[in-house]
Amino acid sequence: MVKVLGISGSPVKDSNTDTLIKTIMDATGAEQELIKLSKIKVGPCRACKQCAYTNECILDDDFKWLSKKVLDADVIVMGTPVMGSAASAFIKAFTERLWSLRHVKLLTQSKIAAGVVIGWAGTEQVSEWLIHSMRIGSGMDVVGSITANGTPACFTCGPGETCRFSLMNTAKIVEKMTGEKFGLEKIYEGYLEELPDNDPLANPSYKVIKCISVKDQPEAMQKAEEIGKLIAEKLQQD
Ligand SMILES: Cc1cc2nc3c(=O)[nH]c(=O)nc-3n(C[C@H](O)[C@H](O)[C@H](O)COP(=O)(O)O)c2cc1C
Repeated sequence: MVKVLGISGSPVKDSNTDTLIKTIMDATGAEQELIKLSKIKVGPCRACKQCAYTNECILDDDFKWLSKKVLDADVIVMGTPVMGSAASAFIKAFTERLWSLRHVKLLTQSKIAAGVVIGWAGTEQVSEWLIHSMRIGSGMDVVGSITANGTPACFTCGPGETCRFSLMNTAKIVEKMTGEKFGLEKIYEGYLEELPDNDPLANPSYKVIKCISVKDQPEAMQKAEEIGKLIAEKLQQD
């Protein structure tokens, strides 16, 4: 039985990252399992290089069993939100640990793979890194990747709409200082309302109307299905 393993680097329950990973997995029609790295313990590589001849990491955490699931899977779908302008630390640590599977035998070679990245800025760069990591780091056959917009943490943190350092207010201030345009109003049109008294420095005031769901981004959802179907076709060829 063909197995598809989804690895989510999002710590958020039922997150946008999870939704796109699941959409890809569903469209493959194969047996699937989603692992949320935030629910287990997979720390970063310690560069001890003891895995060089054994292809086994000596660190005592959940990568011990997760690496077996990776090896057992025919397809790996990896996803991450953008956090601090990079991939989440969960997914970064996981990709570092995959290093143990590459020595001499390159055990992850030719596994079919796909990537998902959610954020509002830097998504393309993070996606490029993720694809590179799967392709060059692990020898996987990456058939596609998706980027989509997610809810900025400021929308849901609590003080969000009244904080002068919220994403929208900070963008406004930086835009004023540098003349650079981020275009966030367009991305978040219909999700956030700027109230008449809003002045980013003196009297910040936004109203969050709703969270951003990839389910409302038909292009991303469609691409996820297409990637899943492409994976199914590849599996039939192999
Ligand atoms: C601590 C933290 C840092 C973040 N940094 C960024 C960032 O640098 N760029 C960005 O686009 N989004 C950033 N975000 C927003 C997340 O990418 C966004 O919330 C995303 O929608 C979460 O995806 P999810 O729904 O799959 O969890 C950050 C969120 C948190 C909590």
